[in-house]
Amino acid sequence: MSTNHPKSTVPPLLGRGPQGVFRRTLPSEQPAGERMVRTLGLTQLTMIGIGAIIGAGIFSLAAAVAKDVAGPAVLISFLVAGAASLCAAFAYAEFAGLVPKAGSSYTYCAAVLGEIVGWIIGWDLLLEYTAIVAVVAIGMSGYMGFLLENVGIHLPTWALGAPGTGDGHKIDLLASLICLGVAWLLTRGTRTSARVETVLTFVKIAIVLVVIVVGFTKVDSGNLTPFAPFGLDGAFTGAATVFFAVFGYDALSTAAEESVEARNKLPKAMMLSLAISMGLYVLVCIVLTGVQHYSELNPNSGISSAFASVGLNGLANVIAVGAVIGIVTVTFSFMMGASRLWYALSRDGLMPAWFGAIHPKRKVPHRATWVIGGVAAVLAGLLPINAVADLTNIGVLLAFVVVCAAVLVLRYTKPHLKRGFRCPGMPFVPVLGMVFSVWLMSFLHWETWVRMGGWLVAGLLIYALYGYRRTRSVMPGDSVDLDALDAMADSDRPEPDQVPPR
Ligand code: ALA
Repeated sequence: MSTNHPKSTVPPLLGRGPQGVFRRTLPSEQPAGERMVRTLGLTQLTMIGIGAIIGAGIFSLAAAVAKDVAGPAVLISFLVAGAASLCAAFAYAEFAGLVPKAGSSYTYCAAVLGEIVGWIIGWDLLLEYTAIVAVVAIGMSGYMGFLLENVGIHLPTWALGAPGTGDGHKIDLLASLICLGVAWLLTRGTRTSARVETVLTFVKIAIVLVVIVVGFTKVDSGNLTPFAPFGLDGAFTGAATVFFAVFGYDALSTAAEESVEARNKLPKAMMLSLAISMGLYVLVCIVLTGVQHYSELNPNSGISSAFASVGLNGLANVIAVGAVIGIVTVTFSFMMGASRLWYALSRDGLMPAWFGAIHPKRKVPHRATWVIGGVAAVLAGLLPINAVADLTNIGVLLAFVVVCAAVLVLRYTKPHLKRGFRCPGMPFVPVLGMVFSVWLMSFLHWETWVRMGGWLVAGLLIYALYGYRRTRSVMPGDSVDLDALDAMADSDRPEPDQVPPR
């Protein structure tokens, strides 16, 4: 770490020196024997990306948004959200091509914009990833309920949904149990999870393709007119909600330390997974609103119910099974991502080490996983899907704004660093990413802003009372010199005795 600073008028607390909250930090290189093993190639990474992107957003939120605010123009909602996400994906890809380290936006922002910005984004992402698990579990519970009904199992009314989602509803029992079940599975160990994820993602893509191919034979063009019954405003409001469907590649960057040639393959996998998912979304939106009139869509089991409405009951059940299996991959990806993020924050002293402890036998951050699973179970059981999705979206959008800003800053302050991927159209693409994200945030309800504000104030208090002091005892010293990133350029190759993946 460098120690020479030009004299500055900035108070030490607000500077980049050892006491400054804006000092730049970067996780140090682990000794060879303690590194994670680099085994993930482009195909697996792309599958993990698609596994995290395609989920409740298309299987559940699309129908809810079409019915309530957009009509068939939900297609426009997806295109607008996709364009915003693409700008940010370029920024994420540039970072992934630069920093072959786990921790995602937290690590990127702490390195470029400083410790406190990294902490705020890390804290923000903890809530966001936990809320994603809850939304996805609610989406899955709708499809599971559909399947149970079809085999004659009727849950009591009080267990069918969160308060306010229907007469007599008290808790979404299935959604809560799903969160706890996934936490339990994750604490058993994650050795084969990449393989399982790849298989499940293939199943999910296959089901989506069946939906598209069969669905197009059942589209009634009369259902697609009027195309925008709630006007363009409705489509844009819908974009802020279905934005949920178009991210997930950011969770891919938590696999940076398990990827072969991360600086080259991770950016490609991010771009590929987003492009494939967007292509499928466009076609599914046309099918969904073309098969059943938007006003009759069922927000709990949208695609299955639409197919059942045109007499395809058998296929509706297959889609429901596929949705449940497919959505599981999202729950896994994000709960795992959240626990690794928590582990990184604890390792760097920003959270108590107790949470980041690794289980001696199973080698997973088991305590963090259980806390995340428990909180997700409460959110999923007691809040309606739209409220939790909005909470998630504001968190992701905030992370996107800051990551786009960090890419801009680094391109101009350190233009010479080796980058495996360069964000095109500088400075317009990241600026557009920021503008798009802030604009989408402006469509979210004020309650969402209040909840997010409360979360960030709590985060700042924890930093002031705990993290600031503790991180200095764990990672003492001055701002890290970002030229160190070039020295990491070759650290993303597999060890010589590892077999490279195909
Ligand atoms: N994009 C993910 C989903 O739609 C979070 O479930």
